[in-house]
Amino acid sequence: KRKIILDCDPGHDDAIAILLAAGHEAIDLIGITTVAGNAELEKTTLNALKVCEIAGIDDVPVLKGNSQPLIRKRETAADIHGDSGMDGPVLPYPLKQAGEEHAVDFIIRTVMESDGDITLVPVGPLTNIAMAMRREPAILSKIQEIVIMGGGTFGNWTPAAEFNIYVDADAAKVVFESGVPITMMGLDLTHQALADRHVCSRIAEIGNPAAGFVSELLTYFRKTYLEFFGFEHPPVHDVCSVAYCIDPTVVETKKLRVDIETKGELTYGMTLVDLHGVTGREPNVNVALKLDHEKFWNMLIETLKQYK
Ligand code: BDR
Ligand code: CA
Repeated sequence: KRKIILDCDPGHDDAIAILLAAGHEAIDLIGITTVAGNAELEKTTLNALKVCEIAGIDDVPVLKGNSQPLIRKRETAADIHGDSGMDGPVLPYPLKQAGEEHAVDFIIRTVMESDGDITLVPVGPLTNIAMAMRREPAILSKIQEIVIMGGGTFGNWTPAAEFNIYVDADAAKVVFESGVPITMMGLDLTHQALADRHVCSRIAEIGNPAAGFVSELLTYFRKTYLEFFGFEHPPVHDVCSVAYCIDPTVVETKKLRVDIETKGELTYGMTLVDLHGVTGREPNVNVALKLDHEKFWNMLIETLKQYK
């Protein structure tokens, strides 16, 4: 089993990523850490707890992380995810509570206690991961891999920048320059993970509470993705990172140089992906470029069926 810590800001697609990680037999989900991103920290944490409760995920701790980016003012994505960060499904207030330990302490402690076999899967702004790296640099050589959802060769929050990188590009810079093996699920890849009508009806047919919840998430996400971006079908970005941890052959990747822009007037938060090797700099990121659509959706749908 692959041990992962899922660092997230639920978030419609984050919620589905939690369900895939907790439900698939190839993954040992050792913790869910939360960060401010799609909504404020209190909301993303509450949403993570709600996801655990509806799906009966009671053996995975949820740890609260940073409420603010390292340097910039906080920015959220209410236009896409609603004011709660996970608008659409109506869920009861969860009994489950977040753990006492701070997410950054949890990440440092579990990585340091490990045999170097933990993968970090950040699918929100990179604040917690960067803070952990700065607070305890000894974790760098012990992290197996970081599988990021973020960035791409184009943007969605600005023409240049993807949301997760844009919200805390300073943190992204720390992480991308860390020397830890990084795989990046950028928009080039995640815009191929579209929940089309056929996929949605397969999920609707499953008939358990977890799948019903996913259907409601996708209904809401479909609406905002159409209104805001003009997309016919919503992309489930964050699920791609977990799918890669389960089976790396679900994507095709290429090792490329990626640098983070933190100074540009118009390009703040851009991931500069050196597709043609023009910088001559050492490639530092495994960039995912092509998704196996069928394998991806089969993996998610079969996992959702496992829930009671
Ligand atoms: C990313 O931003 C968030 O809105 C999604 O949850 C995803 O992590 C896509 O740009
Ligand atoms: Ca997210």
